[in-house]
Amino acid sequence: MREDATMKYDTILVLDFGGQYCHLIGRRIREQGVYSEIVAQDIKPEEVKRLNEKFNVKGIILSGGPASVYEPNAPKPDPHILGLDLPILGLCYGHQLIALMVGGKVEPAEQREYGIAYVLINKPIGVLKELNKREKVWMSHGDTVFSMPAEFEVLAHTENCPVAAFRHKHKPLYGLQWHPEVIHTKNGTKMLHNFIFEVCRCEANWKMEDIIENMIKSVKADIGEGKAIIALSGGIDSSVATAIAAKALDNRLTAVFVDHGFMRENEPESVKETFQKFNINFVIANAQERFLAKLGGIIDPEKKRKIIGEEFIRVFEEIAEKIGAEYLVQGTIYPDRIESGFRKFSDKIKTHHNVAGLPLKMEFRKIVEPLRDLYKDEVRKVAKMLGLPKEIVFRQPFPGPGLAVRIIGELTTTKIRIAKKADKIVREEIERSGLEENLWQYFAVLTDTKATGVKGDARAYGYVVAIRIVESREAMTASFAKIPYIVLEKISTRITNEIPEVVRVVYDITHKPPATIEWE
Ligand code: XMP
Repeated sequence: MREDATMKYDTILVLDFGGQYCHLIGRRIREQGVYSEIVAQDIKPEEVKRLNEKFNVKGIILSGGPASVYEPNAPKPDPHILGLDLPILGLCYGHQLIALMVGGKVEPAEQREYGIAYVLINKPIGVLKELNKREKVWMSHGDTVFSMPAEFEVLAHTENCPVAAFRHKHKPLYGLQWHPEVIHTKNGTKMLHNFIFEVCRCEANWKMEDIIENMIKSVKADIGEGKAIIALSGGIDSSVATAIAAKALDNRLTAVFVDHGFMRENEPESVKETFQKFNINFVIANAQERFLAKLGGIIDPEKKRKIIGEEFIRVFEEIAEKIGAEYLVQGTIYPDRIESGFRKFSDKIKTHHNVAGLPLKMEFRKIVEPLRDLYKDEVRKVAKMLGLPKEIVFRQPFPGPGLAVRIIGELTTTKIRIAKKADKIVREEIERSGLEENLWQYFAVLTDTKATGVKGDARAYGYVVAIRIVESREAMTASFAKIPYIVLEKISTRITNEIPEVVRVVYDITHKPPATIEWE
């Protein structure tokens, strides 16, 4: 990836012991301008050395985790990690692990501490430099460190936890019982800052401007004079990957937008307009009829998803073959390629069709993933810096199969037309109300239920449209949004007025779980 030694970022490795906040540690570090990489908890010292060829590894953090250090299969680091000549900071479970490995006394606490706690700082040095005598922190632990060997000193304690923070007297080895990465730890950022800059002596060289330059250079290095292809959906990841690759390859890049017919109104046109300003080949594959023919009579949601995913791949492969592209560019981002941490949402519940991970039959010389090291919010920053339009930067997540999973029952041209129109009205009204910033998704679902109504003094019998508007952080859970009635009223009035086939609009008031966000 980064062959050029001058492009090496100072890096903190985070060993993942399965804690729910592991990714937060990585993000908090990056927010301070230092790169961080989450790695397996049992990484070998040789692998750390190998990573050092790509990055300047300056320190290691052992994350928290759900296990007790005394459980038979409790995850442990390779003991030689402590022997590497690198600063180490253990957090929560990581703190207990270090204590246990160096001969400290770790035991189940009489009282489990969970939530906000106040620690008393005995010595404001090292990781705790410039902190107050009493600090508000977030704790969540059962095991507790009761004492440490003589070459260590205690830096902080609580009522129930005599060794809430420690350091080695001569080596840069620290442990904190609490979670500095969580916002409830008031000065958590300062604690991580101390570790990164005071203890590890990192330089903040993870800057967005440089990152963009490096990504472009790295695409150039990977593809040289070759030709590449990318499946562009109009979503933020594939759009940013396209923009980066476009800067590296110009017209040696072909972006393919597969229009399966279940896109939102004007979507293919607006994606085309955005990417016209780049000097790339842009292909819209008009495959609406082909998809619809395959989906005729299909009602089962899983079957629909499978057919759409497979057909998408066939269309894309046909174009790739025609163009003779030897390289595939993908918008895979950091959480996509990390197995632990952000576990893939809903994978067992629905077959996700995600253009970022196409299982192709075709062989490419290489798969190039310019965004592979970035978190979503970093991708958004890059998108803004590249001047991509607001519609792309803040686009709500949109499922690969598109409106097809928001039209219940068989897909017909009439139902697709109704769903597109209803979706457009929901988007327009939510955006007009200014509520969209706090919403994860807002859309319409065309149910296959019909109901009675009155339109213009006459009985009408037509479709029921459901409105789904949710708040969420990572889509693993979601709450229905408490939208003001006046906005819902406007949506309902417009849908029933502007779409003759619809007589009734209902609001979905189910959280996830038990429901999912999409209806199918
Ligand atoms: P559910 O419906 O499972 O959706 O609660 C969780 C999130 O994933 C989006 N979603 C998809 N995204 N391909 C995608 O790229 C898909 O096939 C797909 N299905 C659902 C959904 O919109 C929500 O944000």
